[in-house]
Amino acid sequence: MTIWATGLSAERSGRTILHSTDVVIRSGERVGLVGASGSGKSTLGHALIDTLQAQGQSVAHVPQSPDEALDPLRSLAFHWAEAERALGMKPDPTRQAELFTALRIEGGNLRKRPWGWSRGMQQRFVIAMALIGAPDLLVMDEPTSALDPIVAAGTMDLLDRYLQDRQTALLLVTHDLGLAARRVSRLMVMEDGRIVEDAPTHQVLSAPETRAAKSLCAHRNWLELPC
Ligand SMILES: Nc1ncnc2c1ncn2[C@@H]1O[C@H](COP(=O)(O)OP(=O)(O)OP(=O)(O)O)[C@@H](O)[C@H]1O
Ligand SMILES: [Mg+2]
Repeated sequence: MTIWATGLSAERSGRTILHSTDVVIRSGERVGLVGASGSGKSTLGHALIDTLQAQGQSVAHVPQSPDEALDPLRSLAFHWAEAERALGMKPDPTRQAELFTALRIEGGNLRKRPWGWSRGMQQRFVIAMALIGAPDLLVMDEPTSALDPIVAAGTMDLLDRYLQDRQTALLLVTHDLGLAARRVSRLMVMEDGRIVEDAPTHQVLSAPETRAAKSLCAHRNWLELPC
């Protein structure tokens, strides 16, 4: 199902931080939302989630850090049950086992509090929770920035496979062009609350057109990228 939202905008303290923006993401498509810090990526991500939820579309969100999603005083089992309840779903051990296997968290003790698990495992748990409702779109805002690079890459590999199998679309919000380049087929580049460039990833990397895209390309880690 194509994800579709028009006229997304946001104002804070009398300032427009997101100018009217349309977003279209095809079924199973992977899109990166990139731009300098403060360009409005998270604002657009949140506006998109709010609008899609209001339209009754199935969208899930993975925040930057597991701390934002997990209450340190509650067990992991409690979080999972709450997530199922919020979606109006009955507990389903088969679904849980499938997601735990996909994200390699099987064997984790669910009676523990989040801090009883490693950061990498906590973040994979948060991603698994986001997938309980089999969303059409997963929005991830800097999902691996709190993880070391090897754990981060492993987590993204597991997720890639899972999303591909189910044709789940992905919006990856990040200022890490290197991460986006490896994971998405299209890049939307933001500057000052607007999408200023929207093109296939290879095109943005090889021939950036706007100042924002040129500046991101100039500052990427060129040792890691072929172009
Ligand atoms: N609650 C708020 N009140 C006032 N200004 C805000 C608020 N939230 C965001 N902004 C401003 O809106 C702009 C866009 O912020 P946003 O967090 O969307 O940027 P971002 O691209 O996600 O940045 P980063 O890469 O640092 O996460 C920034 O100038 C920010 O200061
Ligand atoms: Mg942000």
